[in-house]
Amino acid sequence: MTSETITAESSGTWHLGDLPVRRVGLGAMRLTGSAAFHLGTPSGRERSLAVLRKAVELGVNHIDTAAFYFSSLRSANEMINSALAPYADDLVIAVKVGPYREWSGEWGASAHPGDLRAHVEENLRQLGRDHLDVVYLRRMRQDSIADHFGALAELREAGLIRHLGISDVEPRHLAEAQAIAPVVCVQNRYGLGFHDPATDELLARCREQGIAFVPFYAVAGEAGPQGAGTAHEDEVRAVARAHGASAVQVRIAWTLHRGPHVLAIPGTGNPEHLAENVAAGALRLTDEELALLDAARTG
Ligand SMILES: NC(=O)c1ccc[n+]([C@@H]2O[C@H](COP(=O)([O-])OP(=O)(O)OC[C@H]3O[C@@H](n4cnc5c(N)ncnc54)[C@H](OP(=O)(O)O)[C@@H]3O)[C@@H](O)[C@H]2O)c1
Repeated sequence: MTSETITAESSGTWHLGDLPVRRVGLGAMRLTGSAAFHLGTPSGRERSLAVLRKAVELGVNHIDTAAFYFSSLRSANEMINSALAPYADDLVIAVKVGPYREWSGEWGASAHPGDLRAHVEENLRQLGRDHLDVVYLRRMRQDSIADHFGALAELREAGLIRHLGISDVEPRHLAEAQAIAPVVCVQNRYGLGFHDPATDELLARCREQGIAFVPFYAVAGEAGPQGAGTAHEDEVRAVARAHGASAVQVRIAWTLHRGPHVLAIPGTGNPEHLAENVAAGALRLTDEELALLDAARTG
């Protein structure tokens, strides 16, 4: 399933608030370099720009990024701006704020709520926009997110942000945020090879309430920042063979089958992988295949 005639349209559409997005999008974290999270060897700039242009050509209109996605020579936001501005009207760019990195690349201490305006403004400058479509508060292990999310809600009221999301949260944080402002998406680690019952509960709660659930590390699974994972590889490969698909495509398709509200954001710096990942949106798994994968995951 690597045909470049398969576009993101085949994955279906979901609305982030009033913004329609195809269910297969692109995560920008892998555009800046390889190895050791995004701090390793810088990527080839033309190759990363090609990934972004190809994504849009293939109908992707949801890109997940952050100002803190940078390596020594590359910034994900700068490359999104260079490759895609002036932006198509239907392109939705989602950013995460909360964490930040020093110019050296080292992670800074947790942001105070009052710092978040500056985080939003840095994303605006890098992307060359005057408002952000979607901003997630990426929780930094704080117990309550009320003060930080409240600060973002004020920026939404001020017109700098259209819609809000939350990331790396427990189910209780969704209710906490919703008491302050509407939440259109939740982004947590989720996929074959990583099983967290609290996130299963959150995924179900999002579905009931019409909120998008956006898994990260869905391809990486247990490998996380290190790259594509291999958990439950026998089961994944058996399903892949039956469809003439790749294991990565099955991992992406499995997440999309968790509900119509699940939006995939596979990350890649490779144009061929990008086409493969977009084509995964056309993969339809049978009930038996889903049962096999579910049993492997929870067994
Ligand atoms: N909210 C958060 O805290 C958080 C944390 C991490 C990430 N994120 C977001 O979630 C997105 C997805 O996470 P991710 O990019 O870290 O991980 P991922 O999508 O689960 O996996 C990416 C890894 O898989 C490889 N890969 C992708 N497609 C492939 C294919 N078709 N064949 C073989 N290998 C393939 C990539 O290498 P290649 O580059 O070689 O393809 C990369 O090493 C990120 O880009 C970022 O936007 C959010």
